[in-house]
Amino acid sequence: MTYQVILPAAGQGKRMGAGKNKLLLSLNDIPILIHTLRVFEEDDHCEGMILAIHPQDEAEFNRLLKNYQIQKVTRLVPGGKERQDSIYNALKTVKSDGIILVHDAARPFIKIEQIHRLTKTAETAGAAIIGVPAKDTMKKVQDGVVTETVERSSLWAVQTPQAFRISLLLQAYDQAEEDEFIGTDDSSLVERMGYPVDIVEGDYDNIKITTPEDLYFAEAILKKRQKEFC
Ligand code: CTP
Ligand code: MG
Repeated sequence: MTYQVILPAAGQGKRMGAGKNKLLLSLNDIPILIHTLRVFEEDDHCEGMILAIHPQDEAEFNRLLKNYQIQKVTRLVPGGKERQDSIYNALKTVKSDGIILVHDAARPFIKIEQIHRLTKTAETAGAAIIGVPAKDTMKKVQDGVVTETVERSSLWAVQTPQAFRISLLLQAYDQAEEDEFIGTDDSSLVERMGYPVDIVEGDYDNIKITTPEDLYFAEAILKKRQKEFC
């Protein structure tokens, strides 16, 4: 049950406001990018990583890959304007069929056990995503006024990785380009083709580091993980 993984890493980190790509910020003295790559480096099922990067980060990324001895990155491809463009650039370089994962480089806390449950599901279903049941009460709001309280039991917060048969994802991306459709995740491109997507329950630790306060949550998660290992 092997797979390849595309890691979009070409963002600007505007909401983090660090003046550089947030993936270069450190947690416990190790860049966020490396925390994420290490998970796949250590997973025997991972056959290769394709990184979409901003050209301005290329020298620094190459230096980090070398210093931290990350061996499984098969290529760096130029990112695009939107996350979806970055992933499409990477996807177009994938030749063989099999399972492809898309995982945000900004989610360093994904666990190998979760990746395996996801890829196993994608092998049979063709498309599978990871997420967690919504914890908050959800409401629809229009012009500052609540219009509806949405039934929570059917709502999930969706994360990455998302896993697909390569030919299916490529078809979905080609179609999205033709229709000029921009989705907020990869699954939505597959869903709009009428293809059923399975969901696998992950955990709430798999946060995307987005704003400065996420760094505090991230430090806490790392501390908890270190205790678990002791
Ligand atoms: N990403 C990308 N190409 C883009 C935009 C985003 O590869 N054109 C990547 C980011 O590097 C990140 C992931 O997609 O790993 C999720 O995006 P997000 O959390 O929004 O990161 P940024 O775009 O960097 O942050 P911001 O939106 O605050 O600028
Ligand atoms: Mg962004």
